[in-house]
Amino acid sequence: MYSVRAATLDDLQALTDIYNHYVINTTITFDLRPFTAAERRSWFDDHHTSGPHRLLVATDEAGSCMGYASTSRWRAKPAYDTTVEASVYCRPDAIGTGCGTALYSALFESIEREDVRTIVAGVSVPNPASISLHERFGFRPVGVFHAVGRKFAEYWDVAWFERPLRLEPRAAR
Ligand SMILES: CC(C)(COP(=O)(O)OP(=O)(O)OC[C@H]1O[C@@H](n2cnc3c(N)ncnc32)[C@H](O)[C@@H]1OP(=O)(O)O)[C@@H](O)C(=O)NCCC(=O)NCCS
Repeated sequence: MYSVRAATLDDLQALTDIYNHYVINTTITFDLRPFTAAERRSWFDDHHTSGPHRLLVATDEAGSCMGYASTSRWRAKPAYDTTVEASVYCRPDAIGTGCGTALYSALFESIEREDVRTIVAGVSVPNPASISLHERFGFRPVGVFHAVGRKFAEYWDVAWFERPLRLEPRAAR
């Protein structure tokens, strides 16, 4: 149902619109105000069509961008180069339709041969769909940082997950 490909600059407005929905309405991201596409340009430019930092989009039959997923630098210091942080956002009308699964399948395949050892993901909780998706892709819970984000006048916890790039055969489903 979905095709997944590398994002291009022409996708940036659609990706920004998807992200802004979650910025404005949810605590899934801890950004507090929506962005223009121009403001998201440096984030876009941090991803490439080779190497460990990828940005993929899922499109429907009509070619509309229904979601995106990325692997990004996790922390700045160079010994962290072999760790990436995964992230995925589907358009609200694509939730529960396999969009996240299609994106993560292609994303992890795209970095299969890169110099990456560990993939991490931070999930502000509650977010059962995200936790389910990450566990399906072999992520295991590491622990929870409590009250690390304040949004909508409340504090929120973030559950962290990790997986090796290469899963043991039995860990994958
Ligand atoms: C999280 C997200 C990417 C998952 O993608 P999706 O296309 O909705 O999920 P899929 O249809 O591919 O299904 C993946 C799993 O999530 C489960 N799921 C989907 N919606 C769910 C919900 N509302 N509650 C619980 N589980 C849910 C599916 O049952 C499936 O679980 P399984 O693997 O155990 O069968 C998507 O829901 C989304 O974009 N959510 C908003 C943004 C977000 O939370 N991003 C992650 C930030 S950490």
